[in-house]
Amino acid sequence: MRDKQIERLIEQEETRQKRVINLIASENFVSDDVREALGSVFTNKYAEGYPGKRYYAGCETVDELEKLARARALKLFIRSPADRRKWSVNVQPYSGSPANLAVYLALVKPGDTIMGMALDAGGHLTHGAKVSASGKLWKAVHYNVDRKTEKLNYGAILRIARKEKPKILIAGWSAYSRVPDFNKFRKIVDAVGAIFMVDISHFAGLVAGGAYPSPFPYADIVMTTTHKTLRGPRAALVFARKLKIKNSKLTIAQAIDKAVFPGVQGGPHVNQIAALAVALHEAAQPSFKKYAKQIIKNARALSNELARLGWRIVSGGTDSHLFSMDTMLRGVSGGVAEARLAAAGITVNKESIPFDKRPPADPSGIRLGTAAVTTRLPGWQAGGMNERDMIRLAKKITAALLEDSTSATRA
Ligand SMILES: Cc1ncc(COP(=O)(O)O)c(C=O)c1O
Repeated sequence: MRDKQIERLIEQEETRQKRVINLIASENFVSDDVREALGSVFTNKYAEGYPGKRYYAGCETVDELEKLARARALKLFIRSPADRRKWSVNVQPYSGSPANLAVYLALVKPGDTIMGMALDAGGHLTHGAKVSASGKLWKAVHYNVDRKTEKLNYGAILRIARKEKPKILIAGWSAYSRVPDFNKFRKIVDAVGAIFMVDISHFAGLVAGGAYPSPFPYADIVMTTTHKTLRGPRAALVFARKLKIKNSKLTIAQAIDKAVFPGVQGGPHVNQIAALAVALHEAAQPSFKKYAKQIIKNARALSNELARLGWRIVSGGTDSHLFSMDTMLRGVSGGVAEARLAAAGITVNKESIPFDKRPPADPSGIRLGTAAVTTRLPGWQAGGMNERDMIRLAKKITAALLEDSTSATRA
């Protein structure tokens, strides 16, 4: 690279990524092929619009690429051809946040109600948090987890839905470790006449690998980022049923296409779509099924061993790639825990726990995930880990966290 300053920073970051043990639940390591596609000549191309209906000339190859990416996405997540025909997918969202914004813009009038999981229970900012556009443009209401079990309480969700009558109900989260009952969600949605959206950003790779229940039989919309367990480039997908919207000429899928472009975005990042198509092909291989299962085995091994070493795991365990751990109970705030682990070469993020009394800037816990450490890349030290590695890692985490618990909270 001619730009030596940037070359140095890239090398520095690569060294860091190869050296640390990455337990950040939303991160992963993509293949060289995904990176090659990201750096390809597709980055030079403007292609506003959709295949066959572009606002720029020279889009023949891009059209072929976008159609292939769509076909791969549909085939990966919806096995039966008959079911697949009922769905459409948009592969253009730049990332998860604009994708969610597009879904709400397509289907909910500003000021109407959206309902998702509360932030401290594990929900995401884009599900109606006050600081996000989703909480400013729409009236957002939230369900929490049960105080005792720290798991979803469908009776409580139904009561809130009946009272608040949301136009859209969102299942899906960033820090909830348990498997939901999508059928129960569907029944709640039907009882109040809402639209059912599932944000599978975190567990998409687990769904693709058959290690986590699929929401497709129950949902009207399935949205996902593609860079977490799915192990693709930073991007997002919005799957939507080809169902007519009440009092509209459009289907849900058509309304979402219009909301993505020109509603929220301009020209698609074509290089990102190419990289996404590569990742979707990789996720369709039998080895990915093994990978998805191993991620969960590792998360269970790590959480079980941490619990054995005296840590409180939120909801008592995990069914997925992640879990949250209450570090405050042993006198270490989430912020201090994150810093201590970083100093020991382990990256995690501080995380609120259900009904957290501490602020998000320094909450009561941390979130740990095993998607990145389970990925095996040639030459990368901290990849391809298994359950035995998790047991060693739990001991290392414990030693790092308890290094000095006397002054272990931030002012
Ligand atoms: C559940 C969920 N939805 C949406 C997003 C937003 O994705 P992005 O960071 O790509 O905008 C995230 C990212 O963390 C997420 O966890």
